[in-house]
Amino acid sequence: MKLQPELQEYFQGVLPNIEACIQEQLDSLNSYVFPVASHVLGSGGKRLRPLLCILMAGAMGHREASVYPLASALELVHSATLLHDDILDNSELRRGERAAHLVFGMKETILAGDALLAHANKIVADYGNPDLVNCISEAISSTVTGEILEIQKMRQPNLSQAEYLDIIKGKTGYLIQSSCESGAILAGNRSAEREASRQLGLNLGVAFQLVDDALDYSPAPDLGKPMGGDLREGKITMPLIHFLQELDAEQRERFLTRVKDKALSEKELEETMRCIRSRELHIRAREEAETYLQAAYQALASLPESREKSLLVRMLEYIRTRDY
Ligand code: IPE
Ligand code: IPE
Ligand code: MG
Ligand code: MG
Repeated sequence: MKLQPELQEYFQGVLPNIEACIQEQLDSLNSYVFPVASHVLGSGGKRLRPLLCILMAGAMGHREASVYPLASALELVHSATLLHDDILDNSELRRGERAAHLVFGMKETILAGDALLAHANKIVADYGNPDLVNCISEAISSTVTGEILEIQKMRQPNLSQAEYLDIIKGKTGYLIQSSCESGAILAGNRSAEREASRQLGLNLGVAFQLVDDALDYSPAPDLGKPMGGDLREGKITMPLIHFLQELDAEQRERFLTRVKDKALSEKELEETMRCIRSRELHIRAREEAETYLQAAYQALASLPESREKSLLVRMLEYIRTRDY
């Protein structure tokens, strides 16, 4: 994660505490869950959700070490959703390593994901604040709903922009929302600021996913991996939705079936990539992210001035300009 220097410095300051806390949580897991959880949590990850939680708590005046278990619980929830997501998507790689279900088995990985979710809930419950428990539990439910919605919608012959936005709000947006909101709750639960934290998180989360979608179609010759991973995996994201909308109904249905079946030839894959790039459909997805980023800036503007507030502005700039 290439952050702007001030934000990077702050991140370097909090990261050892986040990692120590995640490790402590891992060590308390039972011996069946531990290897699976360590595999996913130990193979990297940007730690975006813990960072947002800590920044938000700080922006509201809470700068104590008691934030770290909460921040690490968010990473446990995120990791659990990744374990399950890789099974749902039949993905082979996660964070540069073989996906856990291929290393430890499908059943073991499903159950380890469940155990991680339960453990994260327990960490949050130990704060003794029902609002915090509600916040995290709702985020987990909404993430599941987003994943289910994605499965349902992918069975349809078409996928509209609005439907896609609902999916990413669900599967990505709400956990990022709760990362911000839980920081605000820990800091004292003032209702106007809590609402601002929700708006900030949800909009930031949707923008993050849209930029992530766009990056998959952006030329990056130095990455040393095949481009268009989403298209190869049969994933339908915003740039491809724009592409599909330019086809007539019959062509669209035929093409979409081939994408979902992963039946496109190398030549067709390259042709589609070239077409999306030359029509700048991936750039259109970034422009759509801009609407959400603006809403996030607005939510942030209502908060009192602080170092963390200005770092959250930097975070929005990171998402806007992210190039890998
Ligand atoms: C991956 O999230 C899944 C999405 C919501 C795009 P991240 O991009 O935050 O993944 P890690 O934690 O850095 O691996
Ligand atoms: C990941 O969604 C979001 C969740 C884990 C709920 P995707 O399937 O779109 O993301 P990647 O590409 O596997 O990270
Ligand atoms: Mg996936
Ligand atoms: Mg998925």
